[in-house]
Amino acid sequence: MKNYDDISAIENLSEIIDQAILLKKNPYQFSTLGKHKTLVMLFFNSSLRTRLSTEKAAKNLGMEVTILNVNDSWNLEFEDGTIMNAATAEHIKEACRVISQYADIIAVRAFASLQDKEKDASELVLKSFLKYATVPIVNMESAIAHPLQALADAITIEELKTKKRPKVVLSWAPHPKALPHAVANSFVTMMQKIDVELLITHPKGYDLDPAIIKDSLIEYDQETALKGADFIYVKNWSSYNNYGKVMSHDPNWMMTKSKLGAAKFMHCLPVRRNVVVEDKVLDGDNSLVIHQANNRTFAAQIVLKKILENL
Ligand code: CP
Repeated sequence: MKNYDDISAIENLSEIIDQAILLKKNPYQFSTLGKHKTLVMLFFNSSLRTRLSTEKAAKNLGMEVTILNVNDSWNLEFEDGTIMNAATAEHIKEACRVISQYADIIAVRAFASLQDKEKDASELVLKSFLKYATVPIVNMESAIAHPLQALADAITIEELKTKKRPKVVLSWAPHPKALPHAVANSFVTMMQKIDVELLITHPKGYDLDPAIIKDSLIEYDQETALKGADFIYVKNWSSYNNYGKVMSHDPNWMMTKSKLGAAKFMHCLPVRRNVVVEDKVLDGDNSLVIHQANNRTFAAQIVLKKILENL
């Protein structure tokens, strides 16, 4: 693997999932692979799981890890030809080449602005790193994708499914803030690639990018959608058509224990209790959220391993 910018970087998904599950059983079996190699992790946005699990994954492989909260550094300029006489102090062209001298792999987190649909879709920050860095790039959540989360979710479903082709429902939930589409986008893309029956449910006005949905089924009635579900993945996202806007706070879309029934509950975290999902679900036996968060380590570890093997 050269970069892990997107799920499409995975050549053989079922093999990667199986190898991640094996790594989980014996995380230190490749503990010298990353010796004298450094992962530099750059955060333009907050993180708990991605930061800690990716650091742990790298250290399990024997790598050194350096973390920079980019907001503590110089304001970066991403546009070409800008007269930099205002807020930005360093161009991404220099920054990428400099960081590449300190890193064997660079991992980047840079969320969507939710202000400019075309700019977010262009993945300006991630694509700039892919263009100007001279070492591999790992996407730790970009404007429109969160491929490490999606890989962890696929690993979780593979580990815990009780039938060959489980029914997986992605259900929108309310949230007080406008959130990006990255997790939902990558989850849908990942589910389209593994052997599950995927159904997406959300209020009207919350349709995701048609280029992501492709021919996946949408059911606007949540109760109908949830019938017979084996896994219910709950996530908020803001409107895509009315870009970045919150169109509904309808509490009836919150996940409850009675709606969940016998299905397993999934969420990428962080989650707002009793807004997105009620306490009884998160505190119940059917919640997989801690299991998912644990699998973030092994998703990152298999990705870093594949990249290290290709250096
Ligand atoms: N799910 C996830 O990416 O968590 P963090 O935002 O805490 O990294």
